[in-house]
Amino acid sequence: MTSRDKPFARALTLNFPQLGRAITASGGETVLQSARRHGIRIVGACGGRGTCGACMVHISDGEIEADHADPAAPSPAAPANRKKWVRACRVRARSNCTVEVAPRSLAPVARADVAGDGDADLLRLDAAVASCEVHVAEATLADNVADIDRVIRALALPIDAPGAPSIGTVDLVAAQQLPQTLRDAAWSLRLCLRGSELIDVAPPGSRVLGLAVDLGTTNAAGFLVDLQSGARLASLGLENPQVAWGADLISRIDYTVGGPAGAADELRAAAAAAIDALAHDLCAAVGARATEIVDVVVCGNTAMHHLLLGLPVRQLGRAPFVAAVRDAMDVKAREFGLGVSPGAYVHVAPNVGGFVGGDHVAALLATESHWRAAATSLVMDIGTNTEISLIHDGVFLSASSPSGPALEGGHISCGMRAAEGAIERVGLDGGRLAVRTIGGKAPLGLCGSGVLDTLATLRRAGIVDRRGRIQAPHRDVGGQDGERFAVLAPGVHFTQADVRAVQLAKAAIRTAVDLLLADVGLEAPAIGRFIIAGAFGAYIDIDSAVAIGMFPDLPRERFVQVGNAAGAGVRQMLASTAARSRARQLAAGCRYVEMSTRAQFQRAFMHNIGFH
Ligand code: FES
Repeated sequence: MTSRDKPFARALTLNFPQLGRAITASGGETVLQSARRHGIRIVGACGGRGTCGACMVHISDGEIEADHADPAAPSPAAPANRKKWVRACRVRARSNCTVEVAPRSLAPVARADVAGDGDADLLRLDAAVASCEVHVAEATLADNVADIDRVIRALALPIDAPGAPSIGTVDLVAAQQLPQTLRDAAWSLRLCLRGSELIDVAPPGSRVLGLAVDLGTTNAAGFLVDLQSGARLASLGLENPQVAWGADLISRIDYTVGGPAGAADELRAAAAAAIDALAHDLCAAVGARATEIVDVVVCGNTAMHHLLLGLPVRQLGRAPFVAAVRDAMDVKAREFGLGVSPGAYVHVAPNVGGFVGGDHVAALLATESHWRAAATSLVMDIGTNTEISLIHDGVFLSASSPSGPALEGGHISCGMRAAEGAIERVGLDGGRLAVRTIGGKAPLGLCGSGVLDTLATLRRAGIVDRRGRIQAPHRDVGGQDGERFAVLAPGVHFTQADVRAVQLAKAAIRTAVDLLLADVGLEAPAIGRFIIAGAFGAYIDIDSAVAIGMFPDLPRERFVQVGNAAGAGVRQMLASTAARSRARQLAAGCRYVEMSTRAQFQRAFMHNIGFH
C-alpha cells in the first residue's frame, strides 16, 4: 500500500498564509506531497528525496512528525525546535498546521515587466470574450423592468454601432450576481460576453483577464493575459500534481482504470488544482483577483486532456489507442471547481490522435512561420512524451514517442530539476570529465540539458562503448555493488542504468523520426527545418543530441530551437478566435501514425539504441 492509498486518519488542514491558501493533507503524506497535490509551488530539486534542501518550510503552528533521516527536522518532543526551517519532503502533519515557505523555496512568478520579452506585441487580439461598460437607468416604480432587460436596453442604445454587443443568453451565476452588483456600483457595470452569452458582470474598472495553460505531463505552465490589451502580465510554472500518481502517462492511466473507486476523480481534481493554483498565484502576483479571469484555454496531450475532462482513458491506453473526443471542447470553468469567474469557459484545445494532443497542436500553431519556410519540416516537442510532426508537401504526419523522464533529468540516479547546483554542461578537460553548474554552485545533481552532454561526452571519451556499456578502467569510472558509474563530481554519478534510460529515450525519438520519413519516401537530409519546441528543447546542445544519434546529422543552421512553443500557441488561442480556428484546422489536418505497433519499429529501435 502506498501512502496515497492510505485512508485519511482525519482531515488535516495546512494553512499557507503568505499564499492565501489552505489545503487538506492526508496523514500519510509529507508536507511537500500535500502541497504539490494542491499545486502549491514549493521547489523540490531532488524530487523529494531529501538531498537538495530546496524545499524549506517553517511550521509556525501545529504538530509535525519528522522523518528520522532528516537531521534538520525538529523533534516532536522539543516544541521549541518547531521554529526551525525544515525540509517539506521530510515532515508530515499530525495536526492542522500553519506553514511558511522559505522565499527561496517558492517557484517564482515571472511578471512580464520583469521578463521584458516583448511578448505582448505578439498577441493579436480577437478574443472570444468581449467586454464593455454600460450605465443603466436606475429602477423606479415607473420603470420597473427586470435588471437584465435594463442592461439589454442600455446596450441597445447605440443601435447603429457596428459590432455592438447584444445579449442572447445569460449565465445563471451572472444573473444571480447582477442585481447586487448593479446596485453596489451605482447602476454601472462592466459586462463580459462570449458570443451573445453574458458570462460575467462586475463593477466598472474591473480587469478583463485570460489564463492560458500548457498542462504538461510533468509541469504545468500558466500565462496571465490582459484581454483588453493583449499584454502578457505574468507567467508561472509548477509541477503537475498528477506526478504523485506516476511520472508517465501509462502509470496514471493504469491507476485511473485499475485503481480504487474515485481514482479518475482524484486525477481530474489534481489537474484542476494545478490550473486553479496558477490562476490564484498569477493573479496574486499582479494584484488582481482570480474572479477577474473570464476566459481560460488549456492545451495538453490527449491523456492530460482526457484526465482533466474526466473522459474515459481505458481505450486510450491500449491499441489502437483511440481518444474519446478529438475536437476542441468548451466547458464551464465552475465544472472544474476553478476559482475564476463562475461564468467563464475553459476552452480545451483539440487533439490529433493517440497521445498527440492539443499541446502539439499549439506548438504547430506557434511555429507555422518556421515550418512554412521549407518544403519539408519537422516539429518536435521533447518531453516525457515526445510529439513529432513531419510536414511535407501539404501532408502532416504526427506521432508520439514515449521518451520518458530521463532526458529531462527525471528517474536517473542523480537527476534534479534545472536549479542552482544542477550540472547543465559536461565536457572533457585534459581527458577528465569537467562540469558546469547552474549558478556556478557546487554540483548537486544533473538536469536535463546536462544529461545529453554527459552521454555524448562519455561516448567521446571512450567511457561508453558502441553498445552503451560503461568501460573500465578510466580515472572517472567507479563501481559499487557490481554496477559501474561515471563520476561527474563528488557524489554525482551517471550509472549504467542511467546510460540505458537515455539510450531508450534517444532511440524512441530517432526511430519515430526515421519511420515518419520512410512513410513519405524521404531520408533525413530532406529535412529543411528541424524545429525543436519545448522548454527542455531550448537548452539542449544540438551537437550532443547529434553525437548520440538522437537527431540526424543535418547542417546546424537547419535546427531551430523555439522554446515553449506550446505555451506560445495556447496564448495565441487565448487571445484570438482566429487562432482557435486555425488550431482546429491543423489538428484535423494531421494524420496520426501509431509507432509502437508497427512491424518495422522494433528493428529500427534496436538499430538506433546503439552508437554509430
Ligand atoms: S530536500 Fe526536499 S525536495 Fe529536495
